[in-house]
This record gives sequence, C-alpha cells and structure tokens, in this order.
Amino acid sequence: MTHAHQLAAEGVTLAYGDRTVVEQLDLALAPGRITVIVGANGCGKSTLLRALARLLPPKAGRVMLDGTSLQHQPSRQIARTLGLLPQRPVAPEGIAVSDLVGRGRHPHQRMLARWSPQDYEAVAEALAVTGITDLADRSVDELSGGQQQRVWIAMALAQETDILLLDEPTTFLDVAHQIEVLDLLTDLNRDRGTTIVMVLHDLNLAARYADELVAVLNGRVHAIGSPEEVITEVLVKEVFGLDSRVIGDPLTGKPLVLPSGRHHVRAGA
Ligand SMILES: Nc1ncnc2c1ncn2[C@@H]1O[C@H](COP(=O)(O)OP(=O)(O)OP(=O)(O)O)[C@@H](O)[C@H]1O
Ligand SMILES: [Mg+2]
Repeated sequence: MTHAHQLAAEGVTLAYGDRTVVEQLDLALAPGRITVIVGANGCGKSTLLRALARLLPPKAGRVMLDGTSLQHQPSRQIARTLGLLPQRPVAPEGIAVSDLVGRGRHPHQRMLARWSPQDYEAVAEALAVTGITDLADRSVDELSGGQQQRVWIAMALAQETDILLLDEPTTFLDVAHQIEVLDLLTDLNRDRGTTIVMVLHDLNLAARYADELVAVLNGRVHAIGSPEEVITEVLVKEVFGLDSRVIGDPLTGKPLVLPSGRHHVRAGA
C-alpha cells in the first residue's frame, strides 16, 4: 500500500474570465478510496478536476495537497503524486503509442537521464493491462476513439501516481472495455491504495464502482455520500431534471436508475 495523500478543495471559486463556474466549494477527497463525481453537462465537473490538478488556478480559496497549497508546490513533485486524464486530451501529431504512454514517466526522470528499467517496466505494464501492447508501434492519430482512450488511460497508469483524476475515462469505450477499465481502476485502488477520483456519466456504473459519490449541481456539491445515500429518485430529478425509478441492482444490490422518458413506459408502471 502506498502512503495515502490528502487532496482537498477549500472554499474554491473557479471562473473563466467573468463567468464563475464553481463558487466556494469545499471537497475533501477520501484518501485510498474511489470517488465518483456525477452531474449534468456544464455543471463544472471538468473545471473542478482541472483545479484539483493545478491546471486552473482558483480565483479564491485553495487546493491543498497534504496540507500545502498546490500553488506552493513544485510541478514535478505534484506530477509524481497526482495524475490527470483530461476529458479531451490532445496527442502530439504523429506520436507513437509507446512514446505517448512513455510521457507518463517524465515526472520520474531526471533531466537528460536515460530510461531506467523501472520506466520500461511501467510502460510495458500499462500497455499490457489496458490491452494495447499490440498497438505499441502504431501512430495514435490512426487509432479508433476507444483505442485512443485506452492509450490515454495507459499513459495515466504509467505515471504511477498515488492519486489519479480521470475525466470520463469510459467515453468511447464499448461496454466490455468500460467494465474492464473500471475493474482495472478498482484493482489499482485495492492493490496499491491509489486514490481514484473520476467523473462518470453512467449513474449505474457510478453507483457500482464508487465508495463515495459526489453529485454536483451548478458548481456546488449537492450531495455526497455512499451510492445508496446519493442515488435516489429525488436526487436524479433535482440534478438532472429526469424522472426515474431507482431499484436495487440484482447483481450488486447497489442503486440502479431506470430513466422514465416519455416513451416506452408500461401503463401503470
Ligand atoms: N475554457 C473555457 N472557457 C470558458 N468557459 C468554459 C471553459 N471551459 C468550460 N467553460 C464553461 O464552464 C462551465 C462548466 O464547464 P465544465 O467543462 O466544467 O462542465 P462539465 O460538468 O465537465 O460538463 P460535461 O458533462 O459536458 O463535460 C460551462 O458553462 C462551460 O461552458
Ligand atoms: Mg466535463
């Protein structure tokens, strides 16, 4: 198990120019646990994740890593502790898969130093667990959306940080690969104690994989707690404006959201 680092937003206000997206938000992320953030499009999830990774400086408040503001810590040290998979990462043109995944090792390498055996091992393992070893020499540009997404996940894994922030890691993935990636992140969490913080849109997968669920509404934490506490018909209506039924998932016992919609509902249901 790794040492569990503490990441927390304290009174954080985030804005783009004059437009405030997140206001005075407090959120302590549970070390060594899996936290899933859910919320409607545009409510500020990606903005929050970027701030937690120091890519967006807060207008007010601060993000604390182990009791010190991120703004006062060296970038390299932060990059060794904390990795971010953005919602729409951009690959350098023409870069090969193994080179992109290898960039995850930069925080561990000294200037001009050669690649260490640990670097090669970390990249090979990241390629293997994401099932893309066969794609190692291909150009990232040429891959399908789901293949590219797995390359980005491999890069985040190769960084071997104690905290992983992932913005919709399952986008573009087919259903089997979604489960595989979420299982993989769960393995990382259980085996290495990696703190996982991710945004997911699928409420049922969120309920299944989260230890702690955070529902965001208009840039504020609307609800936080276990999936059972957070995922209710009332919350789904408040946060998404959606009528639904919430039942017990027959496989896991976790909440399972059945959206109503205007069609396809049996009379009397
Ligand atoms: N670079 C930017 N410049 C200006 N406004 C931005 C920028 N990025 C996001 N916003 C605005 O901030 C708000 C929150 O955006 P954000 O990307 O955090 O939402 P989100 O919750 O991640 O949504 P989604 O589920 O669609 O990914 C939106 O109103 C968006 O238009
Ligand atoms: Mg987003």
